[in-house]
Amino acid sequence: MKIHKVFVVGSGTMGSGIAQACAQAGYNVTMMDIDEVMLDRAMETIKWSLKKLEEKGKLKEPQEAIVTRVEKATTMDPGNDADFVVEAIYENLNAKQDVLKKLERICPGKIVFGTNTSSIPITEIAGALRSPERVIGVHFFNPVHRMKLVEIVRGLMTTDNAVEMAKNFVLSLTKEPVVVNYDIAGFIVNRINGMAFLEAISLLERGVANVEDIDKAMRLGLDYPMGPFELMDLVGLDVVLNARMGIYNETRDPTHFPPAILHRMVASGYLGRKTGKGFYEYSK
Ligand code: 3HC
Repeated sequence: MKIHKVFVVGSGTMGSGIAQACAQAGYNVTMMDIDEVMLDRAMETIKWSLKKLEEKGKLKEPQEAIVTRVEKATTMDPGNDADFVVEAIYENLNAKQDVLKKLERICPGKIVFGTNTSSIPITEIAGALRSPERVIGVHFFNPVHRMKLVEIVRGLMTTDNAVEMAKNFVLSLTKEPVVVNYDIAGFIVNRINGMAFLEAISLLERGVANVEDIDKAMRLGLDYPMGPFELMDLVGLDVVLNARMGIYNETRDPTHFPPAILHRMVASGYLGRKTGKGFYEYSK
């Protein structure tokens, strides 16, 4: 089935990044959010980003042409004629299920629902639907305009057709899919990298080295673009905590349990770049 229109639910960092990637790939895209202020902010971010990319010669067509392909919506109704759906709201099982259940009533049965979860098993999300076979994980990485990978995650009931649709969709965005055959919490990247986050916090707590030096060691020693604390601040400490809790809840393995400091920082609103303070401080 050819994709012409994509419906993206959620206009946060990931939702707006995904909507932008779709528009850049030539799709008409509707970005839906119940919060109009967030939607307007997301549109401004997309325009700013496209302008930056245009200045650097990274767009195939004028940014104005790309922007015209992005529409805003505050209800699910415009999803009724979409050919592919990406749900990219916050990490909460019930909320994601609610969104997909609403879409299930609106979208024809052949439409595949991609869910951009970073760690919730796809089978759990899909379990609330009458047609769980059409739900598939499409895990994008932050910042979406730069990160090439999308993890395509199969739920227990996901059809081969949904996997093929998602793979082709990702390739059409000039990104690279990796198929995760079993929807273990955290999938591949967060499963592995999350342990590095926990180990970095543990080294900090034990006074082995400070934040700056741990980051420097990982940047210069492994040629990573960012150290673990810089990366946690970029991704958002709430997102990191959620992902770790998702893995812990599934495994009940204490080695996956996030340390107290992460819980405390999130409770204090120290979420990283987006709130101006995380492991580092950021000026406006
Ligand atoms: N669109 C267009 N341009 C943008 C932009 C955007 N959205 N955001 C920033 N830019 C611009 C900047 O303004 C800057 O422009 P300038 O040179 O004219 O001033 C330019 O891009 C370069 O910005 P940076 O200096 O910040 O870029 P870097 O070259 O240092 O790269 C990075 C930044 C891409 C974040 C790089 O450090 C990196 O790859 N870090 C690792 C990111 C990563 O690992 N992400 C995965 C996280 S895990 C995840 O997402 C999973 C989830 O489930 C938790």
